[in-house]
Amino acid sequence: MHIQHNISLKPYNTFGIDVKAKQFVSVSSIEELKDIYSSSAYPQKFILGGGSNMLLTKDIDALVIHLNLKGKQIISQSDNKVLVQSLAGENWHEFVLWTLENDFGGLENLSLIPGNVGTSPIQNIGAYGVELKDVFHSCSALNLETLEIETFTKDSCEFDYRNSIFKQHAKGKYIITSVMFNLSVKEHTLHTNYGAITSELQAMMVTEPTIQDVSKAVIAIRESKLPNPKEIGNSGSFFKNPIISKSEFLKFKKNFPDAPHYIVSDEEVKVPAGWLIEHAGFKGKTFDNYGVHKKQALVLVNYGGANGNDILKLSQLIQETVARIFDINIEAEVNII
Ligand code: EPU
Repeated sequence: MHIQHNISLKPYNTFGIDVKAKQFVSVSSIEELKDIYSSSAYPQKFILGGGSNMLLTKDIDALVIHLNLKGKQIISQSDNKVLVQSLAGENWHEFVLWTLENDFGGLENLSLIPGNVGTSPIQNIGAYGVELKDVFHSCSALNLETLEIETFTKDSCEFDYRNSIFKQHAKGKYIITSVMFNLSVKEHTLHTNYGAITSELQAMMVTEPTIQDVSKAVIAIRESKLPNPKEIGNSGSFFKNPIISKSEFLKFKKNFPDAPHYIVSDEEVKVPAGWLIEHAGFKGKTFDNYGVHKKQALVLVNYGGANGNDILKLSQLIQETVARIFDINIEAEVNII
């Protein structure tokens, strides 16, 4: 194990924020993780996965543990079902491409999401009508108190919109080490109802789409709307889409009859935060070297060299303005550190 000192975390977070880690270690086995957690040499520890869902606002005065557990495999396969496992440090999109090369269906709508496999259950990643929980089988996680590996089934993960047990009462108590997925082998169920996918497939002149076509359509849509973190620092959606009560929604709809919305249940309605932010006048706004993306108002961007605190202040200004105009509170989706 090689402990480094005072290193920049810029290459390890997709926002590209240049803060320092007091100590840094890249870990490639569960044994190494256990060694670190059973030693008293590092009282403060900070776990880093793909670094795609965080805004760093200060130096990290701790041992930053970069999870680099690699490997993927087929656990079992029958006629139309396959169980695959990926270790936590695999890049999410590369894992999705591997499943598609094997003609395994289920993850195609989740193509090109930044981050690692191990962090995907934490916020139940989702896009274009599919959520991780739809194909999730189970995950293994190291209990940081007992240093035993525990298994979490789908039910025990308590998945919800961009939420799970790992963001609630299990927060900070576990490190997810691997994830298993239930995928299809022959009879794939396509999810192409999401408007943009249908029109993208038409533009691609595809009439009978395969899972690979759906993935290509999703990649094309994402590339047209969302900035590539390798070119412009960002963390995907900075905010969650707010879910409001029906009575709040009726009040909102009276003033803003054209706003898009999705019925969640008899009691609740989801309103796209991107629409609220755009109509609060922030879409495409640029302040020095950071701002709001010009094609998707949910995404805050670092054009190079931005300070995490400046981006945090901008996010607070957006929240205050949206609350003042629409009387709706929007919450950050990314973790603010
Ligand atoms: N909209 C605007 N202005 C904008 C952005 C969106 O008016 O700047 C409107 C759109 O016209 C549309 C509605 O808002 O009517 C929804 O937009 P979109 O389909 O782009 O999806 P979203 O709700 O903005 C969510 C996810 C994305 C995911 C897309 C596609 C959240 C917080 N975000 O965005 O996830 O890719 O749906 O499924 O749920 C991410 O989490 O990093 C992410 C990118």
